[in-house]
Amino acid sequence: MPRLLVLSTSTRPAAAGRPLAAWVAETARTHDGFSVAPADLAEIDLPLLNEPQPAATGVYEHQHTRDWSALVAGADAVLFVLPMYNGSFTAPVKNAVDYLYKEWQGKPVGLLSYSAGPTGGAPAAEALAGVLNRVGTRTAERRPAVPGIAGLVADGGFTAPEGLADEVTALLDELAKLVAQEPVVTD
Ligand SMILES: Cc1cc2nc3c(=O)[nH]c(=O)nc-3n(C[C@H](O)[C@H](O)[C@H](O)COP(=O)(O)O)c2cc1C
Repeated sequence: MPRLLVLSTSTRPAAAGRPLAAWVAETARTHDGFSVAPADLAEIDLPLLNEPQPAATGVYEHQHTRDWSALVAGADAVLFVLPMYNGSFTAPVKNAVDYLYKEWQGKPVGLLSYSAGPTGGAPAAEALAGVLNRVGTRTAERRPAVPGIAGLVADGGFTAPEGLADEVTALLDELAKLVAQEPVVTD
């Protein structure tokens, strides 16, 4: 069964995104398309990019890069659970993307954003989709966005608003289709 990496991307202690990401991983487990591997950028704890060679070389000096590379390369699809800070994605997400290159190429990727405000972080997902396009992922068109995150998390749990489970299922279906398709090789 294809392996889905569900990546919680907030590095803040007590991040609201952590219970949300756990709920997304649980929802993905009930979907019969994937085996689910949850991961957390806070635990992965990448320093600000400190590789001497550009990622496109695939030459990695540091163990943290090799570990992050293996995690992404070993996943058939990656689902980012991302907060919006100041109208865009967060610095740790960009840093984590920039660490790798070949690992992203052709990778089916899903984006699920959230925010305190009414957009649910859709501008952050839009901006990240542009970055991911540069590194050649195949990004799902469906991007569930969760507004008002503060009112949905309590005591380490997440209460899904109506319709979100269906949106996530539709995203997982799209990711499963992307996994089943061969990526188009252009060079
Ligand atoms: C630095 C920073 C900037 C933020 N900017 C926005 C914003 O532009 N729009 C918004 O709706 N919420 C914004 N928020 C609120 C976050 O969406 C909210 O705190 C959310 O819980 C952050 O996710 P996390 O708890 O998983 O880190 C911001 C929060 C932080 C910490």
